[in-house]
Amino acid sequence: MHDPHGQAHWDARYSSREQIWSGEPNRQLVAEAASLPPARALDAGSGEGADALWLADRGWRVTAVDVSPVALARAAARAAEHGDGVASRVTWEHADVRTWSPPLAAYDLVSAQFLHPAPDVRPQVVRRLAAAVAPGGALLYVGHDPSDLGVVPRGHPEILAAVSEIAQLLDDDVWDVEVAEARPRPGTHTDGRAVTLHDAVVRARRRL
Ligand SMILES: C[S@@+](CC[C@H](N)C(=O)[O-])C[C@H]1O[C@@H](n2cnc3c(N)ncnc32)[C@H](O)[C@@H]1O
Repeated sequence: MHDPHGQAHWDARYSSREQIWSGEPNRQLVAEAASLPPARALDAGSGEGADALWLADRGWRVTAVDVSPVALARAAARAAEHGDGVASRVTWEHADVRTWSPPLAAYDLVSAQFLHPAPDVRPQVVRRLAAAVAPGGALLYVGHDPSDLGVVPRGHPEILAAVSEIAQLLDDDVWDVEVAEARPRPGTHTDGRAVTLHDAVVRARRRL
């Protein structure tokens, strides 16, 4: 059966084009992480590597994880173009977040940008990513907001999670949820119209 969250699907998608994404870092990562001092970051679902490279360029040591070896190879090739300093700060790791457990309390920033795990595994995936954040560090979970479904067609509506659902997965005794909002951004409909879309943005700080 076709698995829209597995390696075969994503390898085929990345192999179909030389480049899928813009090459620019995600706007919510830039908004939330630009002021953080560089330390250790995990980018879950790193795709073509733009976020990992943006972080590494700012001095972060980054572990970039993706289920697609095609995407990882493409990202590593882009890293090489950035020069040794940046390339040496990123480790590209092949893993399926549905079964993979990142090291505990190992990162000062864990970022998941449009990773969009399916609902049956979403709680476990989010909790494992959260457990990888070190005390004092931040979890940044960003996806398309479910309100987009009324604006543009989305292939798999079930993968979209409201910020309240993500925030509820974080234990109140451990986490301060600092941002949980559907943030507007300009977008384009498949018919070419300019539309306003929303990113579901959750930023939480793990207490010391
Ligand atoms: C929508 S893309 C976003 C890529 C990148 N974060 C960005 O915003 O440009 C989702 C990424 O998550 C990866 N992915 C999907 N399911 C995954 C899984 N089960 N384990 C690890 N990575 C996964 C895909 O290969 C893809 O690169």
